[in-house]
Amino acid sequence: MKVVTNASELPSACAFIPTMGALHAGHSSLFAIAKKYSEHVVASIFVNPLQFESEEDLAKYPRTPDIDIDIAAASGVTHLWLPTQSEIYPEGFTKQSAGPIGDIYEGKSRPGHFDGVLTVVRRLFDLVNPKVAIFGEKDFQQLQLIKTIAGEVEIITAPTIRDSDGLALSSRNIRLTADGRVAASVMHRALTQSTTEDELRAILQSETAFTLDYADFIDEMTFNHAQLDTQHVRAIVAGWINGVRLIDNMPMGNRA
Ligand code: PAF
Repeated sequence: MKVVTNASELPSACAFIPTMGALHAGHSSLFAIAKKYSEHVVASIFVNPLQFESEEDLAKYPRTPDIDIDIAAASGVTHLWLPTQSEIYPEGFTKQSAGPIGDIYEGKSRPGHFDGVLTVVRRLFDLVNPKVAIFGEKDFQQLQLIKTIAGEVEIITAPTIRDSDGLALSSRNIRLTADGRVAASVMHRALTQSTTEDELRAILQSETAFTLDYADFIDEMTFNHAQLDTQHVRAIVAGWINGVRLIDNMPMGNRA
């Protein structure tokens, strides 16, 4: 695996996985999928300041550079790109707007977050010019919004990777206390055991360590609240445990 600091050293027509580091088995699964699309698997690690609401949240984001290099090398990444801030954000760079879907759910609790995500992803795509890019379904709202700015880049959706108790893998999970980690399994339990929004919320609220932000059944395409005739309903949930924000989602068939 080559570690590069400048996009000019990257191969063209690659399969690309943008990350913010703190790599785990969820990222490894994206790298494995990438291998099916290109012999060149490029991963980037860039903790994007534009997508954090506060300096405090940015500072708290986990950083594990040595482990990241080992995981990337062991998971089939051929080029690990560690861009600098000035390469990504030169003077006068173009900002993206996520539009109305960027202001609801995750966007409501994290104002400006999706504008920051779309801005960095578009910059990364412009610098790498990949054939395909792979994103996990765990960040479902992010995934749907990225599709709107992807242009020529084909977006491949990867399934959520879960721990044995169902908790979706996330770089933030390492900030949970031992008790918080046990309590966090409530999200998967709620998503798999409920058929209505009321049930979903009741299960989540039965866990005292969990502070609910939202738990809704939505139309996957529009993010409007699901109706009885909505074709593709998805349950989306978010909340906090030990002050750590956790999100998850699951398709619900047409059970609005
Ligand atoms: O999902 C992430 O890790 C980030 O939002 C992304 C897509 C790498 C952009 O910074």
